[in-house]
Amino acid sequence: MVLNRLHLKVQKHLEPFRLSLEKLQDVSARLRKDMIRGLGKHSHHRASVKMLPTFVRATPDGTEKGDFLALDLGGTNFRVLHVRVLEEEQRVLKMDSQICAIPQDIMLGTGEKLFDHIAACLAEFLDSQKLRGQTLPLGFTFSFPCEQKEIDKSILIRWTKGFNCSGVEGEDVVNLLKEAIHRRGDYDISSVAMVNDTVGTMMSCGYRDQSCEIGMIIGTGTNACYMEEMKNVKRVEGEDGRMCINTEWGGFGDDGCLKDVLTEFDEEVDKTSINPGVHTFEKMISGMYLGEIVRLVLLKLTEEKLLFRGCPSEALLTPGSFETRFISEIEEPDSGLENAKKILTKLDLDWDLVDACVARLVCDTVSSRSARLCAAALATIVNRIRINRGLDHLKTTVGVDGTVYRKHPNFSDELQAAVRLLAPKCDVTFLISEDGSGKGAAMVTAVAQRLALQSRLLEDSDGEDEEEEEEEKCDANI
Ligand code: BGC
Repeated sequence: MVLNRLHLKVQKHLEPFRLSLEKLQDVSARLRKDMIRGLGKHSHHRASVKMLPTFVRATPDGTEKGDFLALDLGGTNFRVLHVRVLEEEQRVLKMDSQICAIPQDIMLGTGEKLFDHIAACLAEFLDSQKLRGQTLPLGFTFSFPCEQKEIDKSILIRWTKGFNCSGVEGEDVVNLLKEAIHRRGDYDISSVAMVNDTVGTMMSCGYRDQSCEIGMIIGTGTNACYMEEMKNVKRVEGEDGRMCINTEWGGFGDDGCLKDVLTEFDEEVDKTSINPGVHTFEKMISGMYLGEIVRLVLLKLTEEKLLFRGCPSEALLTPGSFETRFISEIEEPDSGLENAKKILTKLDLDWDLVDACVARLVCDTVSSRSARLCAAALATIVNRIRINRGLDHLKTTVGVDGTVYRKHPNFSDELQAAVRLLAPKCDVTFLISEDGSGKGAAMVTAVAQRLALQSRLLEDSDGEDEEEEEEEKCDANI
């Protein structure tokens, strides 16, 4: 009886996290509108979902080959890799790789320091691989929103995920890397292809499954890319074929359109982040923030005397103390409750069995919301591809990566179940990427070399997009 009453009170606090199917459909419809705005020639600059052209026009066709270097910045670690693409066996081999730490002071220091550090790590790697004499092409997986002008010109729009180096926003990242290498003067690289991690993920899966035309990351941050019809990419010259669009869906809601979905905890996470007001959707979903949301809910329930006899510990009061990996551990089907007890003890909390169960319920509620919101966003993309192609039924593959998707015990099941409900006319296969940020970057470089891409970004101007408005109207009728 007491437990039931407690349960009801806890549920009341968790209610705002529970999103009905109708709500998710509604979220999906809002994202669809924002995507159209982001693609428009005149409207994209006021769109919160940036829909960035990547200048990747083709997925691998199996004829790519050669040796490549790859850099991977923006996920859990910074890595340098040497990758070989074998044409005969249609395989991508990772020859070797090295993880280099990026200390906090560099993450928050000057851009020059960051790129000097990257160039130094690359030099060390080239020495260890005895590659210094060779001038290899380089794929640079740079997992931040960039306005790509060409495959090797990429302007950082803004930092996300805890990075905030001065003098990089608004600058061409390829240039900053080349300048840092020239400052050293002891080695060189040949062409550079810039790649978002979603694109690398799509491309690395595309080599295995040629119907893979979507890449999705649910890790430290979240984002997706997909192959859009060129005729809809109003900012790039040309009508034929397709181009991969980096949606940057993490920015969805930055114009306030998700106000009714945000909880008081999301607002608090945003306020105390290093980039308040931006990447609203990402902050509800990705690994950088989920643990903190759980901590804030646990704290609230403690204040309401629904947990830990009303006594929070110093640790629970400390921002960042509840790591996102704890959520996965606590939700493990067999060992979850035992893990919860260990984690609560580690956080110095005076817990009993009911507390451990409530903590588990909180983790489950927060991670489910994340999976369902991702599903709503992914459903928007697959539905769009289906309608773009005038199909009654679409069969497609999504390449996926990221710690949250990989490590959480039932995140992927929940996401897939919700996609089935939200995109009933689409049959979606999920393929976990094998090192998309490394091998995928090499693939993009290889495909770019094969096609020697030439495209030009059209000039911007302010005004209305007639086509865009028409498309919005037409979409509303579907
Ligand atoms: C970045 C994206 C990236 C995603 C996943 C976001 O914060 O803006 O460019 O793809 O994280 O790493």
